[in-house]
Amino acid sequence: MRNTGPIAIRRLHPLFGAEVTGIDITRPLSAREFGPLRAAFEEHSVLVLRDQPMDDEKQIAFSENFGPLEPTLSANPAVGTVFARQSNLDINTGETIPSDDMRMIYQKANYFWHSDSSFKPVPSLCSILTARLCPPEGGDTEFCSMRAAWNALPAALQATVEPLVAEHALVYSRNRVQPGILSAKALSDYPPVRQRMVRDNPLNGRRALYIGAHCGHIVGWPRGTSDALLEELTLRGTRPEFTFAHKWREGDVVIWDNRAVLHRATAYDTVKHKRLMQRTTVAGDAPTVPQ
Ligand SMILES: [Fe+2]
Repeated sequence: MRNTGPIAIRRLHPLFGAEVTGIDITRPLSAREFGPLRAAFEEHSVLVLRDQPMDDEKQIAFSENFGPLEPTLSANPAVGTVFARQSNLDINTGETIPSDDMRMIYQKANYFWHSDSSFKPVPSLCSILTARLCPPEGGDTEFCSMRAAWNALPAALQATVEPLVAEHALVYSRNRVQPGILSAKALSDYPPVRQRMVRDNPLNGRRALYIGAHCGHIVGWPRGTSDALLEELTLRGTRPEFTFAHKWREGDVVIWDNRAVLHRATAYDTVKHKRLMQRTTVAGDAPTVPQ
């Protein structure tokens, strides 16, 4: 595929998400070619591009159009530090990892709605996930619009949430899977950080609720009321009508705005089927509040 004309955009959901065609992102893009894609990202929050077979080098080159990449952590790491490998395959043998192996249990944190790297002092701009090997069924990724979530909150609740700051940490999401699962090293590498509970897009001003599985409690609030409000926001914010599921095909590339959506993985048969996805994560440019 050559980039011969303007990109075409087809909406995937009434509120957010779009499939983009008419561009080959596996080859270097000029600023003029990338511009409309970046604009579509700011507008639609999730972009799906199909039939874009990526290797690691091409994925890095494409991802860097959005900005510098984050070093990432993974329970099943690939060579190099910019990939978060999402897979049930052992990196060395290529064989499926037994489901009771800690590397598989650790990945279950992905089943909870979250925003990638909200546990870092400077949270990410976006994630880019490419499908290298897909199971024939299951393993969808679901997305939820946090702009829609914000817009649907009653005005009084918006006024309560608007000034709030929450503490995010990796330990909060991992403890949802199994308390104590996080290693001592990861605990000390990722101490809790503070994030605003709303985020405004710097270009179009659209506001999004900023919560998710790494979000542990509201700064300055007693445990009980904090837990209750976070649960209420999660319930109100992740209503089915604010979500859609992406069913992966090999060659798919999906880009999502971690400032404006939550996402979660869904199960597949990890004993019978092989799955290999590579994620790059583009760094944000500033903390959401002073740390
Ligand atoms: Fe994720």
